[in-house]
Amino acid sequence: MRELLNPCNLRPMKPFVISALAAAVMAACGGGVTDDIARGQQVFSQNCAACHSVSSGVVIVGPSLAGVATRAAANDDELLPREVLRRSILSPQAEIVEGFKNLMPPDFERKLVEADLEALLSYLMTLQ
Ligand code: HEC
Repeated sequence: MRELLNPCNLRPMKPFVISALAAAVMAACGGGVTDDIARGQQVFSQNCAACHSVSSGVVIVGPSLAGVATRAAANDDELLPREVLRRSILSPQAEIVEGFKNLMPPDFERKLVEADLEALLSYLMTLQ
């Protein structure tokens, strides 16, 4: 018992305790963001990838979404980039990308639950 309570015996434990704490903090904060983006990427594969690539210059039905977050940031409207993207998804007819037809389904508001839409937006915001 005495040996266990000796602080010298605890020292090798410290790095482990610290990394366990760091892992817990990451799971609570940083990990959550990563999970959200991963979920968004999945929502994208299921709902958007049939028409949109994320490779630069690759057009399927709609424009490539490579760099779409940067384009959204350059939009003249007084909307945050994430909100420009939200509008592109929920009201695709509000602004039609030059050279494309209004072929994007107008019913994502109904099809995507809120958490999936937010995750999708987090993912799109990584496409700088
Ligand atoms: C049936 C094909 C189709 C599907 C499915 C589709 N889109 Fe589109 N999308 C288009 C077309 C065509 C355009 C260009 C015309 C326009 O602006 O509405 C477009 C435009 C966009 C734009 C504007 C791009 C820019 O450069 O400003 C965004 C953002 C976008 N789509 C995101 C999405 C997301 C996210 C999904 C999935 C939830 C999705 N689209 C599903 C066809 C589609």
